[in-house]
Amino acid sequence: MRVVMIGTGYVGLVSGACFADFGHHVTCVDNNPEKIELLNRGEIPIFEPGLDELVAKNTAADRLKFVTDPAWAVGEADVVFIAVGTPTRRGDGHADLKYVYAVAEELAPMLRDYTVVVTKSTVPVGTGDEVETIIRGLAPDTEFDVASNPEFLREGAAISDFKRPDRVVVGVESDRAEQVLRTLYRPLNLNETPMVVTERSTSELIKYAANAFLAVKIGFINEIADLCDQVGANVQQVATGIGLDNRIGTKFLHAGPGYGGSCFPKDTLALSKTATKAGTPVTIVDAVIASNDQRKLAMVERIITACGGSVDGKTIAVLGLAFKPNTDDMRAAPSLVIIPELQKLGAKIRAYDPESMAEANKNFENIVYAEDAYDCLEGSHAAVILTEWDQFRALDLERVSKLLKDKVFIDLRNIYRGEELAGTELVYSSLGRPGLTG
Ligand code: NAD
Ligand code: UGA
Repeated sequence: MRVVMIGTGYVGLVSGACFADFGHHVTCVDNNPEKIELLNRGEIPIFEPGLDELVAKNTAADRLKFVTDPAWAVGEADVVFIAVGTPTRRGDGHADLKYVYAVAEELAPMLRDYTVVVTKSTVPVGTGDEVETIIRGLAPDTEFDVASNPEFLREGAAISDFKRPDRVVVGVESDRAEQVLRTLYRPLNLNETPMVVTERSTSELIKYAANAFLAVKIGFINEIADLCDQVGANVQQVATGIGLDNRIGTKFLHAGPGYGGSCFPKDTLALSKTATKAGTPVTIVDAVIASNDQRKLAMVERIITACGGSVDGKTIAVLGLAFKPNTDDMRAAPSLVIIPELQKLGAKIRAYDPESMAEANKNFENIVYAEDAYDCLEGSHAAVILTEWDQFRALDLERVSKLLKDKVFIDLRNIYRGEELAGTELVYSSLGRPGLTG
């Protein structure tokens, strides 16, 4: 099939490369010429494991192209995806749909034969209707359908999530559009991937409900971790103990410094706004949003307590800046709240992240960036693990202890176990595991 992906960001680039790998002919479009130039030189603008090989392979096979002007490709396409950003709208917290609607306006006059226009961006209920109205208004004689096909990939595991999804969700208003999307995703039949076909509005809501539910799970375990600290229980064992109940499941029950990233924060907020506007507030989601915002500040309090009551004049080594491992994405990362707050309180920051330091440098001031984890600890009083990169999981704790002036080791991802700490001089603190010390 001939596929056009408008918006070549985390979702558009990964989806485009994966569709090309399925054998389709894909044109990825972006209105950022630097990004397209980079891709045409064989460079990848983001860090995502395996993406460079996948892009190189499919570009070489002539199945994947990168352009700034979509006109020709849209005219030839069977399916045109809209995969542009839907950030939080300034002022009111709703999803900002201006990029989506701008694409609808741009592509309308380019459509030729029957085409399915698909929103892959995360969009509120009713967006597909509006996209249809825009295109119909500008191209009244063109045959097209508008469908919804939300994306569930995670950064850092994006390719495997795309190629082996738990399900594909498709929202359509015609059998013809459904058949086109079934053909597009036919390669997934091999893995027996379930396809959930709904009306467009339901599909749009499934995406927000999924992200909000996952955010609720994280918010829940984070509060249970705090309770564990107070009552002397172990949150990891609580998570295992509840997660082995199939109705609950073990995933997304890792306590941490609060969820971040380009999606959970904005999507929970957008869902909350949609629900309130509809007169049916999602109070559980509202509570999780507030709890998660508060959590990032609570992490600062923990760091202060672990440092003996003040961070003024102390150097804090921060290990990990991205919102999660295996990405360079800094959007809504907990580090963006925690680091400036520590600086306000007089702390000096040394930081290291394997992939996101260039991106981080655009967001922080007065940080010393280190060469690696040990270099980061050198001369620091305390260390804080903010992102659980694999390379932080097996640090030589004797060396860590020697390098840290105050020996304070704060693990906000619970990646170290009691036996690993035994015998070290580290003053260890983690989340919801009050018995664990160095
Ligand atoms: P992104 O910011 O990385 O990429 C969006 C791209 O669209 C940018 O490169 C931008 O230059 C381009 N763009 C904007 N307007 C354009 C236009 N008129 N023509 C051509 N290109 C244009 O965003 P993202 O993280 O890929 O997210 C895109 C959508 O997918 C969002 O709605 C997001 O919620 C959703 N989503 C993201 C993820 C994720 O992991 N990042 C996962 C699932 C769903
Ligand atoms: C998330 C969803 O997992 C994807 O299904 C979805 O497609 C995507 O949002 C989106 O809509 O953009 P992503 O943001 O890439 O994916 O990363 P996650 O692995 O979900 O992590 C999100 C945040 O939650 C991170 O800050 C992570 O550290 C935190 N988290 C996750 C926890 O604190 N505990 C957990 O148990 C899991």
